[in-house]
Amino acid sequence: MKLTIYGGRRLFGDLKVEGAKNAALPLLAATLLTDDDVFLQNIPDVGDVRTMIQILEHLGKRVEPAHPRDSYLIRTVEPPPSSAPEYLVRKLRASFCLFGPLVARTGKAQISLPGGCPIGVRPVDLHLKGLRALGAQIESLGNLFHAQAERLHPAEIYLDFPSVGATEQIMMTAALIPGRTVISNAAQDPEVHDLARLLIKMGAGIMIEPGRLIIEGAPHLQGTSHRVIPDRIAAGTFLIAGAIAGGDVTVHCQPLHLEALMSKLDELGFEIQEHVESIRIISEGPGSYGGGRVEARPYPGFATDLQPQMMALLALARGTSTIKETVWESRFSQAAELAQMGARIRVDGATATIEGVERLRGTVVRGSDTRAGAALVLAGLAAEGVTTVIDSEGHIARGYADLAGALNGLGADIILEEASEEKEVVASGRE
Ligand code: UD1
Repeated sequence: MKLTIYGGRRLFGDLKVEGAKNAALPLLAATLLTDDDVFLQNIPDVGDVRTMIQILEHLGKRVEPAHPRDSYLIRTVEPPPSSAPEYLVRKLRASFCLFGPLVARTGKAQISLPGGCPIGVRPVDLHLKGLRALGAQIESLGNLFHAQAERLHPAEIYLDFPSVGATEQIMMTAALIPGRTVISNAAQDPEVHDLARLLIKMGAGIMIEPGRLIIEGAPHLQGTSHRVIPDRIAAGTFLIAGAIAGGDVTVHCQPLHLEALMSKLDELGFEIQEHVESIRIISEGPGSYGGGRVEARPYPGFATDLQPQMMALLALARGTSTIKETVWESRFSQAAELAQMGARIRVDGATATIEGVERLRGTVVRGSDTRAGAALVLAGLAAEGVTTVIDSEGHIARGYADLAGALNGLGADIILEEASEEKEVVASGRE
């Protein structure tokens, strides 16, 4: 795809975000834990979700669109096979979360290494450590993992890092193992807690403590219905869009999930109003706000998935800013592209130093992952002239239902088209 952004339009109005992609993906995977019907609402229409639905359909499920809009009824048509289709699994990182549920259901499983945005080495050691602790014997052959389990058992598992995916993988698997599993240093993201809520409705007992999850597994899990939480990363992206373009934007979302961003925007000098189910930002645009220090950390820290968008914002701040990325190894691909637009950014390992400039100018830039692509679109809103964001692998649509349409609804001027001069390749889903 190609997005052409005519810069300099201020943004005004209200917008409601879709359901959280990063919650919907593990919730869909969790439907494998039961043969009963599961009804999921507020599932976003994004590329990664469509891929996960295709995978489920290879694993014995029928995923029927239902009412209201963005709802699906997930039914079992045949018992799950033990192996997930490699060509689909390789499209997105979250597919690896199917490994544990498949072992729990079938006693064995085969899955390939997942794909993933090019944002650093993306190991799965914590997933494997958790599944092994639960009694799975796992061997790897090239990119393929084979697991076998005569009988899974509960365990106490400490994660060296609060990995979102590993926490979800272990929680789903343990939900189907009678007895008490404890995950220490567990991820505490809202998406992890959303999965816990679904598993509780399905019949597992889950207690959430600070940094710990205690799972009382059940021999069988039942069908239920569940509504996915709003997408905090999409919400944050639109708030930063309002900040960088200038204007008055209200985003309907769950403000509790966006405290780190709101506090940072407030610190930079924006007017932020928090309501029960919305956040309003009022901004005078480039040059009206100061720089600051941002450190991307596990939740409740500043979200790494909003770090690229924040870099675009800081490129137009008064003074010097720094961004430290502590979650992913290399997540500054947007820096060189922003520099093409006139930003002054120096990257040194995990830290970027940004000297604010008065203006960015439109040019042709490339988005190499979902959030970096979004960051460049936001930079284009504030840049002089025309910015073209080439997104040849369709990364942006993997994570946002309709980024250009939503911004246009607020007054932006963005044209979305197939990038004819770019070779279109199948989206290699990666986040
Ligand atoms: C999820 C999100 C992604 C977000 C990330 C961190 C989904 C679908 N994606 O990804 O958008 O950027 O959380 O908030 O929910 N790690 C290991 N070993 C492992 C697993 C992870 O070392 O077995 C490391 C990773 O390399 C990375 C860090 O832990 O440096 C965070 O990874 P993790 O929290 O697992 O992210 P994902 O679940 O893949």
